[in-house]
Amino acid sequence: MDIITTSKKLVDYIANLKKEDTKISFIPTMGSLHEGHISLITRAKKENTKKIVSIFVNPIQFNNKNDYESYPITMEKDLEKLIKHDIDCLFLPTKDILNKIEGYRLNKKPDFLDCLCGKFRPNHFEGVYLIVRKLFDLVEPDYVYFGDKDYQQTLLIKYIIEKFYNNQINLIRCETVRDEFGLALSSRNSRLSNEDKKSASNIIKELKIIREKTLSHGVNLFNDLRKEAITALEKFNMKIEYLELLTSDKLEKSNNGNHNLMLFIAVVISDVRLIDNLKI
Ligand code: PAJ
Repeated sequence: MDIITTSKKLVDYIANLKKEDTKISFIPTMGSLHEGHISLITRAKKENTKKIVSIFVNPIQFNNKNDYESYPITMEKDLEKLIKHDIDCLFLPTKDILNKIEGYRLNKKPDFLDCLCGKFRPNHFEGVYLIVRKLFDLVEPDYVYFGDKDYQQTLLIKYIIEKFYNNQINLIRCETVRDEFGLALSSRNSRLSNEDKKSASNIIKELKIIREKTLSHGVNLFNDLRKEAITALEKFNMKIEYLELLTSDKLEKSNNGNHNLMLFIAVVISDVRLIDNLKI
C-alpha cells in the first residue's frame, strides 16, 4: 500500500492513474477504523478500480474542542486493516491540507442543513463541505463511498456532487453497521464503557418502537411517541439532543403518509455524542 502525506505527491499519483485511464474509488475517513468503515471498503471491492482511503481528523468540522482532542486515533491498527483489505493508497494529509481551503466557501447553505446536526453543531457541515471539496479535487474519484449512519452528511455529499462535479462522481451509499446489540458503530463508541454501550443499544430499540406504532397508527401519533421515547432513554442517562421524523429527501416535517419518512436521533451519553436514524 502506498502511503502519501502531501497534496503534491497525491496529485502526481492521481495523474499517473488518469494517464492509464484507471478508475478511482475513494473512501474518506477520520480513522479509528471499525466495521462500519470496513463495510465501505468491502463494498468498494465490487468496482474494478484503484482504492484510495484517506484518514484525516478534520479540526474544522468539530464544533467542540474536547470532542476533537479526545477523538480516538489508532493508526497502527488502521494500517493493518487497510493492508489486509488490499487498499492501494492511503492518503494521510497533515493540517497543511487546510491551507487556502476557504476558497471553497459555500455561498448559500442548502436548506436541508438547517436542522438536525446542522442546527445543533454550528459550522460542522461547513467544515465537512470544505474538506470534502478539497479531497475530491485532489483525488478526482470516479466512485465515493459514504455511510447512511451520517445521513445528513450523505445528503450533503450528494448535493456537492450534483452542484460541483456535474454528477460525474458515483456516490455509493452504504447501510449502517451495528454491534451485536444494535448500537450503530462509531469511532466515538470506544469512549463508552460497556455499561454505556448497553444503555445506548436502547436508542435503536426506541426508534423501532416508534416505527412500528407509526406504521400501525399513522404519523399523527409521533409527538406522543417522541415524548415516550425520550422519557425511556433519559432513564438510561442519555440526554436527547433531537428526535425528529422527517422526509428522507429534504429533511422536512410532513404529515403526509405518502412521503418517505425517517427517524433521526442524537443523544449524549457520558459526554459522548451519538447519532442514529431509521427508515419508516
Ligand atoms: P468518519 O466518521 O470516519 O466516517 C467515514 C465514513 O464511514 C462515513 O461515510 C461514515 O458515514 C461511514 N460510517 C461511519 N460509521 C458507520 C457505520 N456504523 N456504518 C456504516 N458506515 C459508517 O464521516 C467522516 O468520517 C468525516 O465527516 C469525513 C467524511 C471523512 C470528512 O472529514
